[in-house]
Amino acid sequence: MRAIGTPLSASATKVMLLGSGELGKEVLIALQRLGVETIAVDRYANAPGQQVAHHARTITMSDPEQLKTLIMAEKPDFVVPEIEAIATSVLEELEATGQFCVIPTARAARLTMDREGIRRLAAETLGVPTSPYCFCDSLEELQSAIDNGIGYPCVVKPVMSSSGKGQSKIDGPQDLEQAWDYAMVGGRVSHGRVIVEGFIDFDYEITLLTVRAVGADGNVETHFCEPIGHAQVAGDYVESWQPHPMHPTALKKAQDVARVVTDDLGGQGVFGVELFVRGDEVWFSEVSPRPHDTGMVTMITQWQNEFELHARAILGLPVSTALKSPGASAVIYGGIDAEGVAFHGVDDALRVPQTEVRLFGKPESFKKRRMGVALAYDADVDVARERAKEAAQHVQPRQGT
Ligand SMILES: Nc1ncnc2c1ncn2[C@@H]1O[C@H](COP(=O)(O)OP(=O)(O)OP(=O)(O)O)[C@@H](O)[C@H]1O
Ligand SMILES: [Mg+2]
Repeated sequence: MRAIGTPLSASATKVMLLGSGELGKEVLIALQRLGVETIAVDRYANAPGQQVAHHARTITMSDPEQLKTLIMAEKPDFVVPEIEAIATSVLEELEATGQFCVIPTARAARLTMDREGIRRLAAETLGVPTSPYCFCDSLEELQSAIDNGIGYPCVVKPVMSSSGKGQSKIDGPQDLEQAWDYAMVGGRVSHGRVIVEGFIDFDYEITLLTVRAVGADGNVETHFCEPIGHAQVAGDYVESWQPHPMHPTALKKAQDVARVVTDDLGGQGVFGVELFVRGDEVWFSEVSPRPHDTGMVTMITQWQNEFELHARAILGLPVSTALKSPGASAVIYGGIDAEGVAFHGVDDALRVPQTEVRLFGKPESFKKRRMGVALAYDADVDVARERAKEAAQHVQPRQGT
């Protein structure tokens, strides 16, 4: 690995985070602790990660010109995408110059920026099991895809969206038009492309955090964290826990799928591989080439949480995915639409034994915006889940002070 320099000096090791929400904030904190100079980029001022970085920059990251100008001006050693909506063509162009290292790779950022690149790669090139799917550009195409094989129930999602936005389950023809309309307003960019997927009636779903990090011999090695179970409401994670018990056969299959996909994406860093499991069967759903929201639980369950693992992997340092204790996380939502909210009840939350609370410091609250997370540990995962939920419920964002 390259030696780590001194921040704010000529020798500094500089990392630029593209996206500085709650996940970026924790990556930045982990980098700060290792003496890295950090640049936090986001589309709005005072984003969570900007509050803990050496430098804050506010640009539209999907605008190629703005992104290129900024990277060229700052000259970071590492560019670390933390969101999907980035002008990835610029990353590929700059990576090709050999002056910048994109984490994990510019190609991985491009392939995962929408649902099509990664799904076609996984299912059609790598041959890993996924739900049956079809990409459609109109209501008519959607209807015919369902009639000609996908069937009911199925799930419709905008090609470009996250956190369940614009996503709905269709149980029969009567739901079709509404699902299409919802996908059209919920997508990130207004091109009318959706994926329709056959509904997988899974027993449970997991995130398998997979780390590609350099080993003692200089070669990249793959490490797996314990599986993280999670509960989603309307496509957004509300609760996660680790470890999720798995039959050894299913775990092996999950790790094999994660390895095939992350080997192909390459580079160094943490990947959040989302998988559905029923009995011994495992389906690949999607992958984030970066820490995953459900992985926030690792802030209380692992010796090195997913953000520290990412920071270490980026810098070429050794990693350990060892579990410290079973535990759980529960999301704290805004509950109200307001700026500069005040969080009441944090004291009551922290009186719940074996808990911690993280407040992200987002300048503006929305009813369904994730504003914080409660964490709990216990030898019994179910106890930890109850405690995390209880702690989260105590925290009440309110208008004013
Ligand atoms: N084909 C499917 N069958 C059954 N459930 C599904 C299917 N696709 C999605 N889901 C459910 O919806 C959730 C969200 O889907 P997905 O991960 O594709 O969307 P997302 O918007 O990218 O979410 P996020 O960005 O939060 O990961 C999944 O975690 C799963 O619970
Ligand atoms: Mg997902």
